[in-house]
Amino acid sequence: MVTDTTSRVSTSSHSMRRARPGSGGEPGSRGPKSVSPRALAALSPETLAPGALSPARLGQLVREIAAAQESWRPIVHFSAERRWYRRLVLAEDHEIWLLSWLPGQHTGFHDHGEARGAFAVAQGELRETLARPGRNRVRNRCASAGSVTAFGASHLHDVSNVTTTPAVSVHAYSPPLTAMRRYEMTASGLAMIGTDRAELDW
Ligand SMILES: [Fe+2]
Repeated sequence: MVTDTTSRVSTSSHSMRRARPGSGGEPGSRGPKSVSPRALAALSPETLAPGALSPARLGQLVREIAAAQESWRPIVHFSAERRWYRRLVLAEDHEIWLLSWLPGQHTGFHDHGEARGAFAVAQGELRETLARPGRNRVRNRCASAGSVTAFGASHLHDVSNVTTTPAVSVHAYSPPLTAMRRYEMTASGLAMIGTDRAELDW
């Protein structure tokens, strides 16, 4: 279930945490290892299949993994120091990440470069705040457990856990992320403040 609300963000009242290297967008992995190909094959036989993946197909993949709790519950970890994330799949044409969110943790505004994507909430609830460069207006959507959000390459958002309980989500991107631009709300609207690059920043 996804619900939409619209609001205008004030730079003085809205806390925008600047994304740190390695944690700018949702994904990023410093240290953690990917899940073995064998485990992935058991998880989803089609996960590593070649070919371009549409947002709808990415949505199917994240829905499937999020629903298979036995596949991610032994892996997931929660960290108060920084958001935790682990890449589950890295294929030529897509990648899949498992993320956890303690109350208050969020990504900050970011895009996904040229990648299309999707995310499924596996546990808890997340808020997605949508925005556009140069605009002050934002739109909030609450994504509860079981919901799937799929998007194209122009998607720009801030994802956060504004509840009092931990959340877990599964995210897929096609092609795999190479760069994500970070944004911050200013008095004149949403402005780009930097770029995080794969292998350098996550
Ligand atoms: Fe994102």
